[in-house]
Amino acid sequence: MTLSFLLSLIVLIFTYQTPLIISSSSFSSPPFALKLGLSLTVEKKDDFLISQNRLYTAGFYSVGVNAYCFSIWLTKPLSDGSQTIVWMANRDLPVNGKFSKLSLLKTGNLILRDAYQRVPIWSTSTRDTTQTALLRLNNSGNLFLLNRDGKVLWQSFDSPTDTLLPNQPLTKLVSLVSSRSSTNHSSGFFKLFFDNDNVVRLVYSDSKLTGIYWPDPEFRAWESGRNIYGSRRIATMDSSGHFISTDDLLFNTSDAGDEPLLRRLTMDFDGNFRAYSLDESRGIWQVTWQAMSEGCKIHGSCGENSTCSNDPIYGRKCSCIPNHRMINHTDWSYGCEPEFKPASCGNSEYNFLHLPHSDFWGYDSRYMPNTTLSTCKKECLKSCSCKGFQFKYDWSKGFTICYPKFLLVNGLRSTNFNGSMYLKVPKSVPLSLNNSRDVQGFNLNCSGKPTIQLDRVYDINRQKDAIKFLMLTAYVFGALELICISSFFYGTRSRSITREQGYYQAATGFKQFRYAELKKASKNFKEEIGRGGGGIVYKGVLSDNRVVAIKRLNYESSNRRGEAELLAEISTLGRLNHMNLIEIYGYCAESKHRLLVYEYMENGSLSQNLQSNKLDWDKRLDIALDTAKGLAYLHEECLEWILHCDVKPQNILLDRDYKPKVADFGLSKLLDRNDTRDLEFTRACGTRGYMAPEWLFVNLPITSKVDVFSYGVVILEMITGRRPTGANQSGGSSEGRLDSWVREKIAAAGGKNDWIQEVVDSTVDGNYNMSTMGTLIKVALRCCEEYKDARPTMSQVVDMLLHVEKDD
Ligand SMILES: *[C@@H]1O[C@H](CO)[C@@H](O)[C@H](O)[C@H]1NC(C)=O
Ligand SMILES: *[C@@H]1O[C@H](CO)[C@@H](O)[C@H](O)[C@H]1NC(C)=O
Ligand SMILES: *[C@@H]1O[C@H](CO)[C@@H](O)[C@H](O)[C@H]1NC(C)=O
Ligand SMILES: *[C@@H]1O[C@H](CO)[C@@H](O)[C@H](O)[C@H]1NC(C)=O
Ligand SMILES: *[C@@H]1O[C@H](CO)[C@@H](O)[C@H](O)[C@H]1NC(C)=O
Ligand SMILES: *[C@@H]1O[C@H](CO)[C@@H](O)[C@H](O)[C@H]1NC(C)=O
Ligand SMILES: *[C@@H]1O[C@H](CO)[C@@H](O)[C@H](O)[C@H]1NC(C)=O
Repeated sequence: MTLSFLLSLIVLIFTYQTPLIISSSSFSSPPFALKLGLSLTVEKKDDFLISQNRLYTAGFYSVGVNAYCFSIWLTKPLSDGSQTIVWMANRDLPVNGKFSKLSLLKTGNLILRDAYQRVPIWSTSTRDTTQTALLRLNNSGNLFLLNRDGKVLWQSFDSPTDTLLPNQPLTKLVSLVSSRSSTNHSSGFFKLFFDNDNVVRLVYSDSKLTGIYWPDPEFRAWESGRNIYGSRRIATMDSSGHFISTDDLLFNTSDAGDEPLLRRLTMDFDGNFRAYSLDESRGIWQVTWQAMSEGCKIHGSCGENSTCSNDPIYGRKCSCIPNHRMINHTDWSYGCEPEFKPASCGNSEYNFLHLPHSDFWGYDSRYMPNTTLSTCKKECLKSCSCKGFQFKYDWSKGFTICYPKFLLVNGLRSTNFNGSMYLKVPKSVPLSLNNSRDVQGFNLNCSGKPTIQLDRVYDINRQKDAIKFLMLTAYVFGALELICISSFFYGTRSRSITREQGYYQAATGFKQFRYAELKKASKNFKEEIGRGGGGIVYKGVLSDNRVVAIKRLNYESSNRRGEAELLAEISTLGRLNHMNLIEIYGYCAESKHRLLVYEYMENGSLSQNLQSNKLDWDKRLDIALDTAKGLAYLHEECLEWILHCDVKPQNILLDRDYKPKVADFGLSKLLDRNDTRDLEFTRACGTRGYMAPEWLFVNLPITSKVDVFSYGVVILEMITGRRPTGANQSGGSSEGRLDSWVREKIAAAGGKNDWIQEVVDSTVDGNYNMSTMGTLIKVALRCCEEYKDARPTMSQVVDMLLHVEKDD
């Protein structure tokens, strides 16, 4: 059953090429208007209104088992089969699936009745004396009651739920309220509204807490470029992506000027306010602007007693503070509770647990400037309600500040934050930061809708069929590049762009280049030196005479992916510093341009050199070892585990001495050391021929061993001079694979060593030591083991290869 789901999903992905306008034959003459005295009933599947252009449908939408909301949605589903709801009448009070109806009464009142209930659960409270009112759905998605005099009695545009359509105004009378989750459409905790001072703000508000988080509460409205005198309080976006608000919040979406079929502004359930454009050909919504570029600054995102850390791919990640556990495993907003028995206040002794680079915003019981750590501790011990304190050095003031906290919410963990939290814990609780639950990973999938999720729980016995099918699909469509969906988007909000860029600059220490500068440096992108999944690479010379490689990311084909890739690469590379990893000098993000500036590698990629056969055996052995060192560093030596996910000869570059450096981390995913196991990897990436088998088994975890596998294939390719299968052939089952070919040769040799000569590329110059070569091949074969646990880690590979060299 789940297999068929997978199949239909894939079929859906590839058949979503038909134009969005549906031919009328697919409906049995849908009504365009509801007349006085008539009703739409929940039972009849084709009882709905449709707009003249057939883009929108209004009817009963199923929100759960026997639960329906009268809604407006986009007629055409997205490529994953989901519907885009743009409005709901009764989001918090769904009606029964039988005997419920929406009726336009003779009086002109539009009412929604739940089965057998006399009192309508929703109504427009309208009255039409002309007795001519009609309910219609406008081409722009507006549902309205219109009478003969042309008077609009009521319209859905006046009462938005979480979405604004183009030209639909946000006024002082209404607000946008997020849904509870991606699947639960009832009112959630985040709200966009005009505040009392005429400024558009975002607020988090649940039964216990309320907090404004946008514009940045650390600044006053005018410091964020807002105008508090716009008392008309109206904000709208037009159909070409220009947003205007009376508080002077103006922005253009990243595709402004274009006229996509549809746009929307949505208060998303993750607390971000985003603009989307429909990508018709792919059947997904593209984010074209967002209010918050750092997911962790959205208040309430992680709940009490937990911290949020930014994740370049998923946006953000929540973790419980040490000695606390998640309260509800399906929902972070519940926060974390202590694992220890709370000590009774007054007669307990306490320790303080130091959490560097952490903050909990707000809920300070005091502000104590120019204090010492010990005074701060004493202050916190005095009060039973004190849960801990924030202690930081304020460079502008020249002293340290202490903020005792009575509530630990809005937690943030970021290396950019130069302050510490000290948590108050009873002495009876062991102080340890190695609490494994401390880093329970959780990735918020912020955009929800466009994500194509593969069903992860399917019958193990049927995996073979699934693979065959996947292979077939791959063959038919030329490549098994399942779309990498990433939910981290970079808002190109022009007003705050300098601040955001400043943030990334500070975070990474890279230079931000001007587009004009790079255009000049590359002589208008004249000399192409490479092409990758992410874009084309050009040679350039900077004004300081440095020769650089400039990678121009494909923006137009998929701007979202371009941005995610850029940021993934920037933040990944920012942490890395190793002689076998490519160095990045800077980047450029200007309107539609996305560029990365790398160090230039004189001798191009390993793949170019393998083909031109310039590498003798000594160089090849060095390349094998150094590449392994670079990958080992990626996996194990820096702060976090980083997967490359696309190790192949095209991504191993050679400098003038033919020393290799690993490049192109665009597809990599950052991993915390402790949660490799339960990480949900919703993307399949990589290049055919080099991809580990577990990429195809959607229920196997993706670990650093995928890179080990790819590395093994690269080494075998370098030794045998043969291309791995899949790069140029169909198939991908173990027969025909490069490692299987080598294994067969070894088996055929029956214990003798002459298989080595058979396997090794005889056209390569130089001599090699038989036993060295034999060991290298065996290491490579171990890397290509089918089961990930049978493969060595990259640092074990380095050890084995170093050992070989010593033996010579
Ligand atoms: C219907 O949509 C058009 C534009 O598509 C708009 O000009 C008109 O005012 C709308 N009518 C109502 C009643 O919303
Ligand atoms: C949606 O969330 C609300 C509020 O948390 C809850 O009362 C309701 O039962 C949920 N509905 C579904 C279908 O889960
Ligand atoms: C948005 O684009 C329009 C023209 O397309 C331009 O006049 C306006 O200044 C831009 N606004 C911002 C905030 O960049
Ligand atoms: C966790 O939250 C979900 C959704 O809000 C709810 O349906 C479920 O009952 C909760 N579980 C527990 C154990 O509280
Ligand atoms: C958060 O932790 C504190 C003490 O560590 C505890 O008193 C409080 O109840 C916790 N909050 C929740 C929601 O469990
Ligand atoms: C901080 O406190 C110390 C000692 O109490 C005092 O000498 C110093 O001037 C204070 N610094 C500032 C900037 O107020
Ligand atoms: C490799 O680099 C050296 C030194 O810069 C150069 O002489 C040689 O031509 C380069 N080889 C290739 C294939 O570019």
